[in-house]
Amino acid sequence: MKVNFTETVLRDANQSLIATRMPFADFEPVLSKLDKAGYYSLECWGGATFDSCLRYLNEDPWERLRKIRAACPNSKLQMLLRGQNLLGYKHYPDDVVRLFVKKSVENGIDIIRIFDALNDVRNIEVAVDETLKNGAVASGTICYTVSPIHNLESYVKLAKQIESLGVNTICVKDMAGIMSPKAGYDLVKALKENVKVPIVVHTHSTTGLGFMTLLKCVEAGADVIDTAISCFSGGTSQPATETMAYVLREYGYEVSLDDKILKEINDFFTPVRKQALDSKLLNPVVMGTRPDALSSQIPGGMLSNLVAQLTAQNKLEKLDEVLEETPRVREDLGYPPLVTPMSQMVGVQATQNVLAGERYKNVSKEVKAYLKGEYGKAPGEVNKELQKKVLGDEEPVTCRFADTLEPGIEKAKRELGDKAVSDEDLLSYIAFPSQAEAFFKKREERRKNTFSYSIKRID
Ligand code: CO
Repeated sequence: MKVNFTETVLRDANQSLIATRMPFADFEPVLSKLDKAGYYSLECWGGATFDSCLRYLNEDPWERLRKIRAACPNSKLQMLLRGQNLLGYKHYPDDVVRLFVKKSVENGIDIIRIFDALNDVRNIEVAVDETLKNGAVASGTICYTVSPIHNLESYVKLAKQIESLGVNTICVKDMAGIMSPKAGYDLVKALKENVKVPIVVHTHSTTGLGFMTLLKCVEAGADVIDTAISCFSGGTSQPATETMAYVLREYGYEVSLDDKILKEINDFFTPVRKQALDSKLLNPVVMGTRPDALSSQIPGGMLSNLVAQLTAQNKLEKLDEVLEETPRVREDLGYPPLVTPMSQMVGVQATQNVLAGERYKNVSKEVKAYLKGEYGKAPGEVNKELQKKVLGDEEPVTCRFADTLEPGIEKAKRELGDKAVSDEDLLSYIAFPSQAEAFFKKREERRKNTFSYSIKRID
């Protein structure tokens, strides 16, 4: 049996280890090797790459994608998309979602992995539909979490709903690295028995389970696994590509990766990693193994946020109380997966509840919007008493929230005028208005400088 590999060094490994700060120039020379190594796909766009390009790297994210496309003519390029939220945290109207997907494919994307933080299928259906319309591969995603209401039966039901949208593959996305080898095996086996499309497994090495989980998922029939080239693997990143290839071959699986090229890719990234360590961009803490999330169910990234919040308010001694309050808030909100933005929402509210000395004395506007149904349907029942207290006479939304939104493209065109030179610019602006405007300004200055320079040359 063949096992396919998706390489994450350009996106998730980059995001998880060094906050997506790798500029295009740092990996440009290795793209031709990535293109020839034999991967199923290269995950290289979406997630935080878009925001980071505009905000920190002074790069046009669309131009980055086109350059990767040109340098990797033989590879399937993959991106991560947060369904109706695209690359941000709020819901966008359908015309924006459709144009974003269309332009992503036009600029070079082949596979779009589409997820919703609440696993509300209504929030991925438009993006899936548009992906398919544009001839790209739609990978519908299950956000994996552990709670009293999540079990094999609920995941199989969800997978069938996702399959009915016409997706080409289904991805099990374990953001926090808490899916155990046994849970992964049981889940993939159940999915293989109940849906026809190939199964992709995505996990992180945060708690140390990652390698074992991927191996057991492959044994259960997973078709594609996500890995990162070794020097950008481990810790909060993915398990290592070379190691998984070695183990799987030993068990007789067919792996079409070229070991010699993998070594060249790793040799290329080794100094990039060293530079990140030297500049403190890469903190060795994130490379370690932290099994505490297995008992607390609080992902590592969320725990560091809680500590940072309490430290800022000089209340670190309240950490234990906040850690006890966190699962209670999660229960009140109907057990959302603790992935962005839910992890922040639950964490901030739990901290508030403890510091105010009274539960829900202050409620964040995000929690209010959540209880109103603006993020989608909660996986379980929300606490009705809390919902009533927060909403008062306001009725919660039960329809798909995006159905209540006005179209966004024409409005953005009016706002931006001639500052946008393309649909891609318009979408950058809709996704991250202030960062995009600042970027357009800098780009315009660069253009002007380039222009006067060329005049001199002609003279
Ligand atoms: Co991930």
